[in-house]
Formats: sequence, C-alpha cells, structure tokens
Amino acid sequence: MATTVQSVRGMNDLLPTEAARWRRIEHHFFELASQYGFEEVRTPLVEPTHLFVRSIGDATDIVEKEMYTFVDKGEKSLTLRPEGTASCVRAFLEHKVYADSQVARWFYGGPMYRRERPAKGRYRQFHQLGAEVYGDAGPHSDAEVIQLAYRFVRLVGLDEVVVRVNSLGSGQVKLHFAKALTEFLQPHQDRLSEDSRRRVLTNPLRVLDSKAPQDQEVIRDAPGIEGFLSDEDRAHFDELRRLLDLLEVPYETDGKLVRGLDYYTRTLFELRETRGALGAQSTICGGGRYDGLVEELGGPATPSVGFAVGMERLTLTSPEWTPRRTHDAFMVSFPETTREAFRIQNELRQAGLRVEGDFRHKSMKSQMRRADRSGAPFAVIVGQDELDRNEVLVRHLADKTQRNLPIESLREYLRAHLLEDGDAGTTKYQ
Ligand code: HAM
Repeated sequence: MATTVQSVRGMNDLLPTEAARWRRIEHHFFELASQYGFEEVRTPLVEPTHLFVRSIGDATDIVEKEMYTFVDKGEKSLTLRPEGTASCVRAFLEHKVYADSQVARWFYGGPMYRRERPAKGRYRQFHQLGAEVYGDAGPHSDAEVIQLAYRFVRLVGLDEVVVRVNSLGSGQVKLHFAKALTEFLQPHQDRLSEDSRRRVLTNPLRVLDSKAPQDQEVIRDAPGIEGFLSDEDRAHFDELRRLLDLLEVPYETDGKLVRGLDYYTRTLFELRETRGALGAQSTICGGGRYDGLVEELGGPATPSVGFAVGMERLTLTSPEWTPRRTHDAFMVSFPETTREAFRIQNELRQAGLRVEGDFRHKSMKSQMRRADRSGAPFAVIVGQDELDRNEVLVRHLADKTQRNLPIESLREYLRAHLLEDGDAGTTKYQ
C-alpha cells in the first residue's frame, strides 16, 4: 500500500462527534452574542502581510516568527490570519462602517494560524470565537464584553475559571512603563532566560508574561503599571471594576498582566482555566481595549474593545458531552424491495425526518447491526410480504418490539413517537 498522507503538524481534524459538539458550542456563542446586540462578520483567511505587522506589532512573537507568510505570484506578501481583530478593523475601514453607525458590534468565528510549537492547547491552526465593539470609549462596553466572555465559558460548562483585569493606560503610559521596566530588568539580565534577556530592550512588557521559573523570580519584584496611569485611565479602570461588580462577574486585578499583542490600551483582560488541565496554555480567552488601532490603520479615531476565546482550549477543558441523536430511523430492505425502501426513505426525509438506509444488498443481520449503531430509535423493515399489503414493519430498537404499519401512516407514527421521546426531528437544532 502507498504511504498515507498525514495532516500538517499542529493542524487537526474534527471528526463528526467532535464537530457536532463544536457546532453546538458555536451556536451558544452566536445566541449569547446576539443578546448583547452583536452581529456576525466574516472576513477572509488571507490578508496583506502589512496589516498584521502594523497592528499586532513588529516586535511581537506573532509577527517576528509565527506568521504563515507567502508571496502570491511573485507580487504581494500575504499572510494567513493569526487573529481576527486586525481583519475586523480592516473591514470596518474598507466599508466605511463608521460613516453610518456610531457604534458597531461584531462577532466572528473561524480558524487562525500561528506557527507555534505544538503542545496540548497550542496548535498551528486553531479556532477563535471573538467579539469587537467599535465607537464606544466608555467602560460599559469593556464590562459588557468581559461579561459576555465569562457567561459564554460558564454556559458551556467551565466552572473553574478566573477573570483577570489590568489597565495598560493610554497615550504614553505604556512607553513610560516599558522604560521603567527596562531599567528595573537591566541589572537582573544575567538571571533571565534567553528569550527574556532579548526582550529587555525590544519588548520589556513581554518579560512579565514569561513562564520560565528564573524569570518569575525576577518579575516578582518588578513594578506594576498602576503608578503610571493618568487620572482618566484610573477613573476608567475604577468604573470598569464597579461595573463588573454590578454585572456579578468575579475578577482579580493584576497590575502585571500583559498580552502578546501591541495594540492594547487601557483595559486588558484574560480568562484562565484554574484546574490545571491545560498546563501553560491555561488562557482560554484574551482581550482588551485598542483605542488607537483604527486610527493607526488610517481611519478616524475610534475607540474599540474586544476579545477572542480559543475553541480548542475551551473544548479541552469543558465537560464531556453526550452526542445528540443524529438519526430518527434506519431503512432495512431486501434486494427485491430496495427500490421501494429507497422511495419511503425519501418520503420520510422530505417530511423532515433524519433517515439513512443501507442499499448495498447486505444480509439482514448486517443491516440490523448498522441500524443499531446509527443510534436511531427505529428500523423500518421493508419486506415483500408487507409491501404486498402496503405495509412496513417498524422495529423499536431499544426494546426490540415491532409492529406492522400501513405505509401511509408510517410518517405520523414515527413523528408521534419521536415527539414522545422529546425530539421532533431535524427542525429543532440545539
Ligand atoms: P490572543 O490572546 O492572542 O488574542 O488569543 C486569544 C485566544 O486564542 C487565546 O486565549 C487562546 O485561547 C487562543 N489561542 C491563541 N493562540 C493559540 C494557539 N496557538 N493554539 C490554540 N489556541 C490559541 C487575540 O487573538 C486577540 N485578537 C483577541 C482580541 C480581540 N483582543 C481584542 N479583540
């Protein structure tokens, strides 16, 4: 046999049971986001490279070493999107959305690409569910998006989760803080990991995010950002925390919280899973305010705030899920009745029932085994004797009872029993 082709390292398949679980989780997100007035947006997977360089920042890990970048026909440099925020801002500007809506609220979902070292909870193709608000500078929208993220992960069953918030200030605050950090870190350079040592000058805030034990020890005594905030920044942050109390979102304040994207200003937050199931990849959700980004990308000053939840991390930590039934009935037939069984199957499907059949002329035993495996509550057995009386045999697969039914009442019979079972077929989706 020829050797088989494997998927690209760090990029995973979702087989049907898992895909059904994902769809259900995504559905919960879409429903919840629309409670908050968000509408869906879909942007391309590929964008001009400079969009990400300008927004995420050229000294970030993502831009420095993790982007899938290629040159299209020797002309343009293109990149597989490593995140969704930059693309949303581009679309917001390209379509001049700011011109007719004062505030826009968007949500999105889909694959993102970062060439990271694969580990549990860290992949090269991963999926985010995100939300962004444009045009509102006040802390109410920060509080709302944090609550949305929190309610969402709770809704899908994540109990042990902590929300951490910080403020990175506005204007020059981040710069002043970065300078103070560099001054603090320089005398300790020898004790830092190689990565952190490199960042002391280029991106000192990222040192605060290091997981290396030797870095942690140095960071413990590092200054937090609180002392650098302006009165307005502080007022925004204080009000945000009062609003989170009002919305009953429990949180912790962490003056050393940073994230690996340069565009953040003022509010920064993350949701972390605390059971330890994901090791170093415990951040389920990251987000914050990015008041300068729209302007930086050539648009009018537009305060913005948002977040993204990682689907893989969420599904790895949320509780087990019992797959929902996928079949209502399974058709079983004999070679001489196959065509009639096929016709009845069609009739049931047209009526909205979920039906599969085996028309490969296999043995009765083999067909019944497939019917059992399908999870359908009924097998519809089409034999010649029954057909001669315009009937079929319906077998209840759970208790193995069966009865003859006129073909014309089959549909109603199945429907009535499925309803009794609490499920009326495909029309209802959960
Ligand atoms: P981020 O913190 O880079 O933020 O990513 C958000 C979430 O995506 C992470 O918390 C994690 O769950 C998931 N994630 C990131 N990288 C990977 C990976 N390699 N494998 C698996 N999951 C991963 C952003 O992307 C921002 N755009 C969020 C945002 C929206 N900020 C404002 N608006």
